[in-house]
Amino acid sequence: MCTCTHGEGDPLITLGCDYNPEQWPAEVWAEDVALMREAGITLAAINVFGWSETEPRPGEYDFKNLDAIVELLHENGIRVNLGTGTASPPPWLATRHPELLPMAADGTRRYPGGRQGWCPSSPVFRSYALRLVEQVAQRYGAHPAIALWHVSNELGCHNALCYCDESASAFRRWLRARYQTIDNLNTSWGTSFWSQRYGDWDEILPPRAALSLRNPAQMLDFRRFSSDELLGWYHAEAAVLRGHSTVPVTTNFMVTAHIRDLDYWRWAPAMDVIANDHYLDHRLGDPAAELSFAADLTRGLAGGKPWILMEQSTGAVSWQPHNLAKQPGEMLRNTLTHVARGADTICFFQWRASTQGSEKFHSALLPHAGADTEQWREVLELSGALGRLAEVAGSTVEADAAVLFSWESWWAAEQEGRPSTAVDYLAQVHAAYGGLRELGVTADVVSPDGDLDRYRFVVVPCLYLVSDEQAARIETFVERGGTVLVTFFSGIADQDDRIRLGGYPGAFRELLGVSGEEFFPLLPATTVTLDDGGTATLWTERLRTTTAQAKASYVDGPLPGVPAITRNRFGAGTAWYVATNLDKTALQRVLGEAAGVTTGHPGGLEVVRRHKSGKSYLFLLNHGAHEIEYPATGTDLISGERADGCVRVLPGGVRVLDEEQGERP
Ligand code: GLA
Repeated sequence: MCTCTHGEGDPLITLGCDYNPEQWPAEVWAEDVALMREAGITLAAINVFGWSETEPRPGEYDFKNLDAIVELLHENGIRVNLGTGTASPPPWLATRHPELLPMAADGTRRYPGGRQGWCPSSPVFRSYALRLVEQVAQRYGAHPAIALWHVSNELGCHNALCYCDESASAFRRWLRARYQTIDNLNTSWGTSFWSQRYGDWDEILPPRAALSLRNPAQMLDFRRFSSDELLGWYHAEAAVLRGHSTVPVTTNFMVTAHIRDLDYWRWAPAMDVIANDHYLDHRLGDPAAELSFAADLTRGLAGGKPWILMEQSTGAVSWQPHNLAKQPGEMLRNTLTHVARGADTICFFQWRASTQGSEKFHSALLPHAGADTEQWREVLELSGALGRLAEVAGSTVEADAAVLFSWESWWAAEQEGRPSTAVDYLAQVHAAYGGLRELGVTADVVSPDGDLDRYRFVVVPCLYLVSDEQAARIETFVERGGTVLVTFFSGIADQDDRIRLGGYPGAFRELLGVSGEEFFPLLPATTVTLDDGGTATLWTERLRTTTAQAKASYVDGPLPGVPAITRNRFGAGTAWYVATNLDKTALQRVLGEAAGVTTGHPGGLEVVRRHKSGKSYLFLLNHGAHEIEYPATGTDLISGERADGCVRVLPGGVRVLDEEQGERP
């Protein structure tokens, strides 16, 4: 268990927050800390956006206020998650060095005035920022209050892709290291098409806006480079911190529905502990299911170990078109989704609601209306509940199913010039994951490079780009007795985004026992019917079985009689193929059959277990509007109630049963 966010000793679920006291006069700080204590907050992230306070003029440092805050928190037993403060440079830096401002694909610079206005490759930004990190690390590196280092903030949230000349030079360096020779690059990028053959490295640019479609392999490599470039920056900051401190170092990931610019599978090994920020996204059909997915993916990044939820909101955010507040109980329920799926530290953005600035309508632990509010009472209730779940800390989730997820494949699948712009990678992953969730199957979310041996059932949704090694690993998994379910637009391209020949889905043709010759995407609003009663939209393909058995075929649409769902015996295992975008019920049915799960549970109930030394903790979270009864025995750690054989979960309610004394299913 990671004890970085609380001391050694008894386990506990840590409650924390982002604390931005720069916004408030010093008189408010004492009240802040008193209320933090009342709420059981034991971890505060500070100095995340502190640069213009701590270095008000170039090379002139002023740590007076930060010193005072660190001491105040320390005296009150609140540990510090100390930001390096480099996330947003002060105005003087861009005024002095406008060349460090990021450039968009169309060649226009982005002005300061927001945040994160810096090019990730800028040597000027890097030298100023590292100078600041050195100051911070030197000053606080040995301070006993510091529990964790918080490098920058949500790296790449706004500035992941910069197209300026510095970025171009850095991109070329990255390409040289990857390809060694310009001929290798030409081969990988397929530059013979449209007369794009390069004679010299200096001819290569980032994929800036062009008159027509751009080279997809170049665009894919630019994304890989951009992710690596920011990871390199993380390493640079972390190296300075490690020179002065032995405290764990991390940064807050954005495993969430609307950010896709960083390949966190490559980032995760560089973190001392995995931390994620998550906000419910009401632009999605099922925000709670996405929350579960993000939590499981974060656990995957943490290699199954407990992780930190570094930010979430008590209520509304302020960056969606319609910023929905949370219903009574929703904050607790959302929080318990994170805990159920492996988080041992729960933090919120931010402590006190701002009166000014871009996020003045964003909810906080302490709302504008103060402490005599429902929101504050819910915070106290949440704190009490987490306190009663202390023994859950350090336990782990044990799943025998997995969903493969790849940022690289996401980037490649959604390039320009593809069969259908309506195929949305994440929506396909969410559909497959959501189907399992509703069946009550807890799944790990793993990289295609991950270890599959521990699983019984693996879903491969829309894995467009797959390397030979990844494809071989999946084949071996099935050969040895595993079951895989692959969905359409998988296995199409290799790591250079080169189409695999001989019939779709190239990488999985043998495994699935099918061969496809042409994609037949559907127009929006077109629905086709299958002979098993299901329906489908979006995608069909002219497919024939080679060794597989057709489980369902189209009745109508462009391909009547053609197989849509197939099953193939492969070695000791089974490989299913879903060649279309099934409706929710039909997808759940095939997932259930493939996974060998016959019993679902009432809709809206989220069921997850965490395990520790022979004990199991059953989380039952009712997202629905009706009371649900679930077969279980044990003691509810939150309410203290005992359940013998059946537990009732109120609408919107939660249960966390210690199943120790009961029958473990
Ligand atoms: C992100 C940032 C915070 C804040 C929140 C608002 O997570 O890290 O600074 O902007 O979003 O939701």
